[in-house]
Amino acid sequence: MSRLRLGVNIDHVATVRNARGGAHPDPVRAAIVAAEAGADGITAHLREDRRHIGDGDIERLMAATPLPLNLEMAATEEMLGIALRHRPHAACIVPERREERTTEGGLDAAGQFATLAPIVARLGEAGIRVSLFIEPSARQVEAALRLGAPVVELHTGAYAHAEGEAEAAELRRIADAAALAARNGIEPHAGHGLTYDNVAPIAAIPQLAELNIGHFLIGEAIFAGLDPAIREMRARMDAAR
Ligand code: PXP
Repeated sequence: MSRLRLGVNIDHVATVRNARGGAHPDPVRAAIVAAEAGADGITAHLREDRRHIGDGDIERLMAATPLPLNLEMAATEEMLGIALRHRPHAACIVPERREERTTEGGLDAAGQFATLAPIVARLGEAGIRVSLFIEPSARQVEAALRLGAPVVELHTGAYAHAEGEAEAAELRRIADAAALAARNGIEPHAGHGLTYDNVAPIAAIPQLAELNIGHFLIGEAIFAGLDPAIREMRARMDAAR
């Protein structure tokens, strides 16, 4: 089984910074620590309301981070323009509603085909690796395939919130969607709500190439430090592999 990459989402370093409006703590410093701790990529979500990551952060992350940047973005003209200007390694298209606390569900790649098709195409033409953040379902994977997306990120939020039988069922959905994507030449990633306690069964899904983890790691960093928190997550992912 190939090594599972870890993308560290540093959005919530910016959340804490923005609570006081200054420059500390700096998400760029977090990205540098993440690189030293064995992360394979940095993920940042530039939201429409700029509640955590700001435009200047994207510029600084691109300039100062030794790792590839995965820019999470809504499927809007504004975000497309920003992505095309900065040309990050990857762009993950996520659904976004202003009122939500976080990205609560997957992108409806099937229902929003007409909106997504030109955005996926323009990002791809610019050499940006496009990922679609979708629910782990055959319908959504098939839509991603029709859209020509090289990557899908499977939303693990429902799995993270489920218990018992429901958790096992969610895990099967993710495994089935990952297998379907891989069979069709799409690289499957996964993320949302992953913690030390629930990461192992996801990391054990052989087709998955990358996990993106944020909120738990930044929270754990308060107690353990960011470097040890990332190392511990990495160790658990590797052990499950
Ligand atoms: N992947 C995507 C596409 C996301 O939108 C998020 C949350 O911003 C994550 C991964 C990370 O989720 P969490 O912060 O719950 O680990």
